[in-house]
Amino acid sequence: MDRAAASADTDADAGTDTGAGTDTDAVVVLDTYDEVREALRQRDLKQALYDAGGAVMADSLITLHGEAHKRRRRAENRLFRRGTFRWWELNLVPGTIEEGYAAALARGRTDLVHLGRRTIMYLTALVAGIDPPSDDAAADRLEDLARVFSAGATAVHSTRDPGELRAEVEQAMAAFEEEFLAPARRRREDLLARLAAGDAAEEDLPRDVLTAVLRNRDELGMTDAQIRREVAFYLQAGSHSTANLFTHSVHRIFSEWDDPAFAARLTDRRFVQRCVLETLRLNPASPVAWRRAQAPITLRSGRTIPEGALVELDLRAANADPAVFGPDAASFDPDRDLPDGVQPWGHSFGGGTHACIGMELDGGVHSGSADDQEHVYGTVTLMVVALLEAGVRPDPDESPTEDRASSRPNFERYPVVFDPAARTAHEEVPV
Ligand code: HEM
Repeated sequence: MDRAAASADTDADAGTDTGAGTDTDAVVVLDTYDEVREALRQRDLKQALYDAGGAVMADSLITLHGEAHKRRRRAENRLFRRGTFRWWELNLVPGTIEEGYAAALARGRTDLVHLGRRTIMYLTALVAGIDPPSDDAAADRLEDLARVFSAGATAVHSTRDPGELRAEVEQAMAAFEEEFLAPARRRREDLLARLAAGDAAEEDLPRDVLTAVLRNRDELGMTDAQIRREVAFYLQAGSHSTANLFTHSVHRIFSEWDDPAFAARLTDRRFVQRCVLETLRLNPASPVAWRRAQAPITLRSGRTIPEGALVELDLRAANADPAVFGPDAASFDPDRDLPDGVQPWGHSFGGGTHACIGMELDGGVHSGSADDQEHVYGTVTLMVVALLEAGVRPDPDESPTEDRASSRPNFERYPVVFDPAARTAHEEVPV
């Protein structure tokens, strides 16, 4: 029996009314592709995954519902246009990767989890509205704070003592305010005041979340604490999932590349992108999404969800639904044929009103057409390509370790070495 059926049975056995009516104890698990897709787009299902992560997540975009979410998303969405992603990819990402990788390449070895976090942190800081760290020590500090925010945001899956974790997050928030946010905010408020006085032009304003929320603060009705959490949320939302996808993607490539036909295709960036997106299908950063039903709901499948029920959207299971991805859905196949309208990453970037705002920044735009000049590879693909070009290999002396502080299946450390003799060459990106 699948988990969805099991949960429906449990509800029935417990005498739960799964039709109309309110039942806050009911738990409904959805694990098919179609039901998860529909649930992600259901307006009467409200975000519920981050209730335990309030110290970072309270009132952040991802937890808002209805009109409040629409207003905030509209203000922040302006930063995430397709043209902007391509511009970033051509102008910001290569330099960021070069800078992020320099020390690791010079040493000839690194830990992929740390490398991924550090490299993406510069980009997410830029998106969030934190000015780039001035030196290595400041970058280390920001990375540490982002790691604490990630642990706090995903508290629901933490194996640590909740009180201890919360205290650590609150301390990190206070340090973040003083060391990073306050100076960034002063600079932006000064620019906004100059803009209002006609002493600065629109182009002088940074295109980041902090500027967007400060500018629309009255309309959005945000307090200082809410602004702080929104910026911290972006910082961790970007870096945590990206670093995990990066590490999992390289791990999948290492697992396949004894096959010479597979290894030969790694010279093609689009193939690497397909490997990354197939990895993302099999390793969603968040294996589940949770929602709370605000009204009784009946899905197209006929399944009923009572008002008040907790609904678990099992993204990992839905992404391996054989009805959509075929009988080998659980295996890694970057050449997989997909039905119309199904994305290669399945539901790993969510969908509907809360769909990931950074999806194209990380995943790129998967057009499928070989001569598409607008093609966006996404930051993770470019980070993996840069590793392959540097001759990355698993470290023969040290095996990867799992992250035991979370029930999410991620690596804690993934040691690799660089072997100049094993470099993979790639074609130039068309500009
Ligand atoms: C591989 C990388 C990433 C993955 C797998 C990922 C995944 C997701 C998922 C599944 C959601 C929806 C959660 C839900 O519906 O409950 C989401 C939302 C979001 N993501 Fe990402 N994300 C990634 C990278 C990023 C990056 C780089 C940024 C920002 C720079 C970002 C910012 C956001 C924001 C702001 C939301 C909330 C959107 C809303 O509620 O309207 N993410 N992400």
